[in-house]
Amino acid sequence: MEIIDNVKDMQLRADEIRSFGKTIAFVPTMGFLHKGHLSLIEKGKKAGDILVLSIFVNPAQFGPNEDFDSYPKNIARDLELAEKQCVDIVFTPDKESLYQKNYQTYVDVNDLPNHLCGLCRPGFFKGVATVVTKLFNIVKPHYAVFGEKDYQQLAVIRQMVKDLDFDIKIIGSPTLREEDGLAMSSRNAYLTKEQRPAALSLYNALVKARDIVKKGEKNASKIINSVSMDIKKYKDTQIDYISICDPYTLEDVDIIEESVVMALAVKVKTTRLIDNMVLTPDLNYI
Ligand code: PAF
Repeated sequence: MEIIDNVKDMQLRADEIRSFGKTIAFVPTMGFLHKGHLSLIEKGKKAGDILVLSIFVNPAQFGPNEDFDSYPKNIARDLELAEKQCVDIVFTPDKESLYQKNYQTYVDVNDLPNHLCGLCRPGFFKGVATVVTKLFNIVKPHYAVFGEKDYQQLAVIRQMVKDLDFDIKIIGSPTLREEDGLAMSSRNAYLTKEQRPAALSLYNALVKARDIVKKGEKNASKIINSVSMDIKKYKDTQIDYISICDPYTLEDVDIIEESVVMALAVKVKTTRLIDNMVLTPDLNYI
């Protein structure tokens, strides 16, 4: 496995791989890898010849009061896992090489960030779109894999790739869950054993909503109120948002007539968790 920490070296290596007629699949991460990331790597390996994994905690997507400084890190363990997973190249730039002194250019998608997480985390998607653009220009992939757990992020990146004519195929990869249903996330490392039931309230809310929509409930507010009450029963929870929305525009849906996405963000004490699920009415249900 090659480890490259320098922008120029990564670009030259990407050019070389392309000149051999090989395709590059790319999995961008912020490290502290878990099984969810490993499933993205597996997807990437099926898509392209050479798998590049990046590990970079992007300061531009963290707000001033967020967890940039305390974001979990274990580079030695990440490299071991990447090696075991037969990753070809790990790209590990530092902050200074990606955002040089006097850095001035950002990528801002217009509408999709004005929903869900974008409302609670102003500037977050600008930071994500900017770093992903930079990484695309450095790694020069043919394919890039993103997790569906970050549903809005995936939508923003698809829009950006379409709008800016990136010649890259974006591949979405389903959310991996712990045995109890909790969506895998690097931030789960912050949770104590006592906070686990509160953390699970997100998944339980989605399952409840999925089941009642299947049985014919169409009123989105009714569903949101019901699952909000369930989540609030756990003393450490604070709901950032719960939304039932159009899968493409992310606009809120009031009456559920076809498949919608339910997305939510809940803080369990200081740990902010997100999750989502597609809710599909069963048109044959009587
Ligand atoms: O999903 C993530 O881990 C990050 O937002 C990403 C896509 C690597 C950009 O920093």
